[in-house]
Amino acid sequence: MTNIREASVNLNHWWPVAHRERFPRSGIRGIRIGPMELVVVRTAQGFAVYEDACPHKRVRLSQFGTLKQQQLLCTYHGWEFETRQGHCTSLCGMSGQPEQFNLTPYPVREYGGWVWAFPGEAAGAEATPLPDIMPANTPHRFYRVPMEGTVNCHFSFITENATDLFHAELHKAQQPWANPQLLSIEETEASVMARYRVETPNPLSALFTGRGQKEVIVRYEYPYIHLYEAGGGFYLFVTYLPHDAENTYVFSSFYFPHILKIEALSRLLLPLVEPLLIPILNQGTFRQVFLQDIRAVEEEQRAYNLTGQEASRDPNPVTHAVRRVILKQTEHCPPLRPEPLIRRPGAPL
Ligand code: FES
Ligand SMILES: [Fe+2]
Repeated sequence: MTNIREASVNLNHWWPVAHRERFPRSGIRGIRIGPMELVVVRTAQGFAVYEDACPHKRVRLSQFGTLKQQQLLCTYHGWEFETRQGHCTSLCGMSGQPEQFNLTPYPVREYGGWVWAFPGEAAGAEATPLPDIMPANTPHRFYRVPMEGTVNCHFSFITENATDLFHAELHKAQQPWANPQLLSIEETEASVMARYRVETPNPLSALFTGRGQKEVIVRYEYPYIHLYEAGGGFYLFVTYLPHDAENTYVFSSFYFPHILKIEALSRLLLPLVEPLLIPILNQGTFRQVFLQDIRAVEEEQRAYNLTGQEASRDPNPVTHAVRRVILKQTEHCPPLRPEPLIRRPGAPL
């Protein structure tokens, strides 16, 4: 596999499946990570993640499942499963041993306001670390603005966009940064770390980071993107679920420290300030910037689809380092674009 736009997904990582506070207290949601369909279930007992298929006829539980107290019930034939381990508890009158029809569970963790699942080989879950999101370790010091949504492009376009600060022009109406310069770049088999120098012309951004020149660090550790100001002014964490070769579900959280650096004062004023500030940032600046990026990366996918060849010419070395890491990390994984089940007439066997 050498075509970055066909790069696959390595399931042996912790993948985000939900922002905790955005998930209903009791609910079911289907997600897709490349070839895998998973269902996230939340009850009063917590979160659980299973293969999104009823063991009976393989219909998706995200479509046919419903919650009955702490039980997950498939509304096709009424089979029931307890939600901690996914054990089948009733075949609804059919003969057979319910325990032969348990759901397949996946390891789940909660960290930093996110819910994570490990869809790869379960034995690797313990030894695989979650990403270290610095503000998630001291949440009382930061506001967190979560955002998520589907973007119609291959995940590599999103990774390149988020690690390349030379696209300040795209966001010039909001001006979160300006006049970028690349200072340094370090690359390993699994990561790229780039340091940029930028300016902060926007008064709203300057509230958090101060005006003038800033150093911004971009750290890509497949499949996670960290982008933060060296002085601690803000922290953006972005990651995604590649659905297929042209659709990606993006999760991000923007963290910024309390404006008032005095924490006790912040705690007092927070209930007054937050309801006013967060919607402005969420609906205004962050959302606009997010939408501008989506428009650009979907346009890149469109250009790629014209020929199926990568013809862009990007002089930013960070882009090429990121591509190498993605290809390295996914080289032995099954393709995101499966072979069609029905062969075209005349196509070779
Ligand atoms: S398909 Fe789910 S109970 Fe039959
Ligand atoms: Fe951007």
